[in-house]
Amino acid sequence: PYIYAITPTYTRLEQKAELTRLSQTLLHIPNFHWIVIEDATTKTELVTKFLKNSGLNYTHLNALTPKHYKLEEKDPNWLKPRGVLQRNAGLEWIVTNQNSKSNGVIYFMDDDNTYSLKLFDEIRFTEKVSVWPVGLSGGLRFESPIVTNNEVTNWFVFWKPERPFPMDMAGFAINLKFFLQYPEARFSLRVQRGYQESTLLSQLHVKLNDLEPKANDCKEILVWHTRTEKTKLKNEDKLKLKYGHGSDLSIEV
Ligand code: UGA
Ligand code: MN
Repeated sequence: PYIYAITPTYTRLEQKAELTRLSQTLLHIPNFHWIVIEDATTKTELVTKFLKNSGLNYTHLNALTPKHYKLEEKDPNWLKPRGVLQRNAGLEWIVTNQNSKSNGVIYFMDDDNTYSLKLFDEIRFTEKVSVWPVGLSGGLRFESPIVTNNEVTNWFVFWKPERPFPMDMAGFAINLKFFLQYPEARFSLRVQRGYQESTLLSQLHVKLNDLEPKANDCKEILVWHTRTEKTKLKNEDKLKLKYGHGSDLSIEV
């Protein structure tokens, strides 16, 4: 089976570093297709060149997150979710370009997380939806499905445990053929914070006992919700004051 990984990405100073680190993990994975969706009106030169030189099988798409959405007056808790339209564009590509004969799994990978290669050996064999713990997530050392007798029976989470599927985007994968039974299933800009995963999985009509625990019955951490510190450029300004120019802008960082 193929792994179809869907990764939203957006322009910022750290982007190329994130993509470099992630892509060099992905290069180790056999039968892998990377769907990269830029949060932008057009595909950028940086990402275009980057993917061309990456050595990976990939599809490059773009989908802009609108600056403002109309928020329902009664729903002050709506939050600007990240990666929603981009992941939907990735799903759209899969629905359009794959069919029920394709063997594969769909995995949503953020561009800044840390992934163990061991994870991919496990998730490749997913019948419907597989799940596993995510390290450094939800304000805990890890968040995890709770497994009893090889079945998911509950969730180890502190934040919003009442969610139907209280887990991070990095904590599950979906069988491709299974997804194609519900080809309209998508994420939504209009759900409360933390409910993206639940929204999608609810549309696939999965029950708790459908979930397939991976990573040694969810006792092993194979993915981490790492976040990169925002780079400060305070000395660029000082350099400009002192010498009249900052660093060479023709050098891509
Ligand atoms: C957490 C979850 O791990 C994400 O899966 C979830 O999308 C996100 O929260 C959310 O708020 O909805 P977090 O580290 O807070 O992740 O978010 P980011 O890593 O900043 O963004 C998630 C993905 O969306 C990344 O691949 C990022 O490149 C992309 N993104 C972020 C965009 O495409 N556009 C943006 O404006 C921001
Ligand atoms: Mn992140």
